[in-house]
Amino acid sequence: MTVQIAPSILSADFAALGDAVAAVERGGADFIHVDVMYGHFVPNITIGPPVVRSLKRVARVPLDVHLMIEEPDRYLEAFAAAGAAMMSVHVEVLPHLHRTVHAIKALGVKAGVVLNPSTPAGALEAIAGDVDFVLVMSVNPGFGGQTFIPRSESKVREVRRVLDLAGNEAAPIEIDGGIDMHTAPRVVAAGARILVAGAAIFHSTDPERATRDLKAAASGAVQTASR
Ligand code: DX5
Ligand code: ZN
Repeated sequence: MTVQIAPSILSADFAALGDAVAAVERGGADFIHVDVMYGHFVPNITIGPPVVRSLKRVARVPLDVHLMIEEPDRYLEAFAAAGAAMMSVHVEVLPHLHRTVHAIKALGVKAGVVLNPSTPAGALEAIAGDVDFVLVMSVNPGFGGQTFIPRSESKVREVRRVLDLAGNEAAPIEIDGGIDMHTAPRVVAAGARILVAGAAIFHSTDPERATRDLKAAASGAVQTASR
């Protein structure tokens, strides 16, 4: 399994999202990561289905929609219709996670579940066989530009074990928060295969080049890890 890069537009200029998407695509982005927040569950407010619909018109790579919201079930159809190819929901807000995961899949969208830094990998056990991917938060969600939490590396290893034990070897682990040229090789060595990066890409002077460099650093680590 190769390593893929999902630039998070949360740190891009919201008045020029089309340019941001084009730049990271030139740099080899595999997905565009879209952070949805509306002031419950996380304190920030970002974007909703209309912006996803506009992004879908310009993006050539799939849209990866990270729902940091309570009651995500109310919005699954809207985000699917807007063009999400992947949607992830937080374990922490869902008493009926199994139903939600299957509702996402029924919409023809890849279903992921997200673990906050304080949520143990074991919380996945009963759903690990059903998911298309798992997103490990390596910061507390809500804002870009935070510092990577080092414990996330062992969390990725634990999540990999839970997925493999459930027979879901094909499901990749995505990681989100504080990923840069230093942390990328470490999380890839731990088993992460989709790397979200916001500030490291869009707060750089050249997002295209930052995407390319991050992908090269991450891919180098996957080759070392599998040797
Ligand atoms: C944070 C979001 C992230 C964020 C990552 O709650 O889920 O996707 O954009 O930003 P960086 O890479 O700057 O930590
Ligand atoms: Zn995110």
